[in-house]
Amino acid sequence: MRETVHLYLNGAPKVANAEEAFLTLSTWLRREQHATGTKVVCEEGDCGACTVLVGRPRDGRLEYQAVNSCIQLVGQLDGTHVISVEGVSTPGQLSAVQQSMVDHHGAQCGYCTPGFIVAMTALAEERRDYSAKEVKEALTGNLCRCTGYVSIIEAALAAKTMESPSLDELYPPAPIAEALSDVRPGGFSVAANGRRFFAAATLEDALRFRKDNPNCVILQGGTDLGVQANKRGLMPEALMTISAVESLHILAMHGNELVVGANVSLSRLMEAVRKSIPELHKILGVFGAPQIRNAGTLAGNIANGSPIADTLPFLFVAGAKIEATSLRGSRQIDINDFYLGYKKLDLKGDELITRVIIPIPSLDETLKLYKVSRRRDLDISAFTAAFRMRIDGGRMKDVKVAFGGVAPTVIRMPKVEAILEGSSPDEETFLRAAEAAKEIAPITDVRGSAGYRLLLAENIVKKLYLELRIEKSISG
Ligand SMILES: Cc1cc2nc3c(=O)[nH]c(=O)nc-3n(C[C@H](O)[C@H](O)[C@H](O)COP(=O)(O)OP(=O)(O)OC[C@H]3O[C@@H](n4cnc5c(N)ncnc54)[C@H](O)[C@@H]3O)c2cc1C
Ligand code: FES
Ligand code: FES
Repeated sequence: MRETVHLYLNGAPKVANAEEAFLTLSTWLRREQHATGTKVVCEEGDCGACTVLVGRPRDGRLEYQAVNSCIQLVGQLDGTHVISVEGVSTPGQLSAVQQSMVDHHGAQCGYCTPGFIVAMTALAEERRDYSAKEVKEALTGNLCRCTGYVSIIEAALAAKTMESPSLDELYPPAPIAEALSDVRPGGFSVAANGRRFFAAATLEDALRFRKDNPNCVILQGGTDLGVQANKRGLMPEALMTISAVESLHILAMHGNELVVGANVSLSRLMEAVRKSIPELHKILGVFGAPQIRNAGTLAGNIANGSPIADTLPFLFVAGAKIEATSLRGSRQIDINDFYLGYKKLDLKGDELITRVIIPIPSLDETLKLYKVSRRRDLDISAFTAAFRMRIDGGRMKDVKVAFGGVAPTVIRMPKVEAILEGSSPDEETFLRAAEAAKEIAPITDVRGSAGYRLLLAENIVKKLYLELRIEKSISG
């Protein structure tokens, strides 16, 4: 097994040693590679100044996606092609996006600009006629304090019609993809300063490492762990990435169930459920920002176990199953039984989450997902809710309700479910259910007071009723 990390940076092969494997990508770029165009501001994935593109081999090509380099470790990038802002154009010549930012006065202090350029390059690479709304969505993860967004959005829109070499023209993919595909399946194991970083090549390697190192921390997309490392000094003795384990990239329909491998990013999931679960697609659209969704995974969201994790209320009402695997075999746990307390999971020391199995609600069922946060985009929820039911013969049936942000874990709401179940969907029933929704004991924290959350719980039931009436799913 290799004792080094192999990656490409702006078209050139690089080998990182054990110490470098533990560095954040932004630190490695700036300190070890002198690529100081990448800026660091928040160090927690919130501002986008450190955005880079990461290309992963797929079918002989390289698929590039924007990520936050401040919360990615170099070891995570084994077998990828990283393009920093220095690499988005031919040396000495501005790309269309860069020229357009100059033409439209898109920068003042310029500190955020490299991040914007990289995020805009990711969008421009799609080579299509995107709208101002799509520009805003693509740049949700990039903050600018002084220029103002109008000129930046205008620059992104104008760049569409300007000639510029594509990333594939700048970096012909075949030789890089081939070299990376050769190196990646081997995995690596490095140790420095009493810490070990292991990249499993196969599931069996991963399970053995997990068994032999019960305190090892599994690093998936790193969007939770990266923040904990930068802001709370998390320094695990052993880290393991499983991103080279091909079988855990599965994203497929098996009968009526969507099977989501542990390595599947939230972006891939979002695309996959666009038509089959439109409500989940909508909620994923306000999950972090593109940079976060490109790196973060569903498995990470589940394993992090936050009561305000945005995917959980849906998974509760869908009856998703968590597949936990160890050398002893695999078992499936209903997500409704998976959380034993605050961030306490029914997961043994030698187990990994390998897949999530989601029974797809049928499109004639009513499914409603809600996220309440201080701002719409790039914000952590104060409160979340999921409602699922069938309205049949003037009655509500198979009612399932889950709330997040009101208890140490996401919870089902049995009293609300019982009032709605079998009842006629009228105002009086929903008002009774709204009253029952207040039987929770939320806490006060920075995102909202207990009283505010109680009001949200009550009002979300009323909102559901009004939405169903407006959509004419129910009469009244
Ligand atoms: C700027 C920003 C915005 C965010 N916005 C949102 C948001 O809108 N909504 C939201 O819900 N979250 C949000 N998050 C939190 C985070 O992005 C999600 O929780 C994400 O899904 C974590 O996935 P990951 O793959 O990055 O996990 P990681 O950080 O890699 O891991 C998270 C935890 O899960 C464990 N773990 C990971 N994979 C496995 C596995 N296969 N088996 C066992 N344990 C495992 C890890 O050991 C770790 O404890 C945000 C984070 C940031 C930095
Ligand atoms: S420095 Fe702000 S997102 Fe990385
Ligand atoms: S130009 Fe100064 S922060 Fe954007």
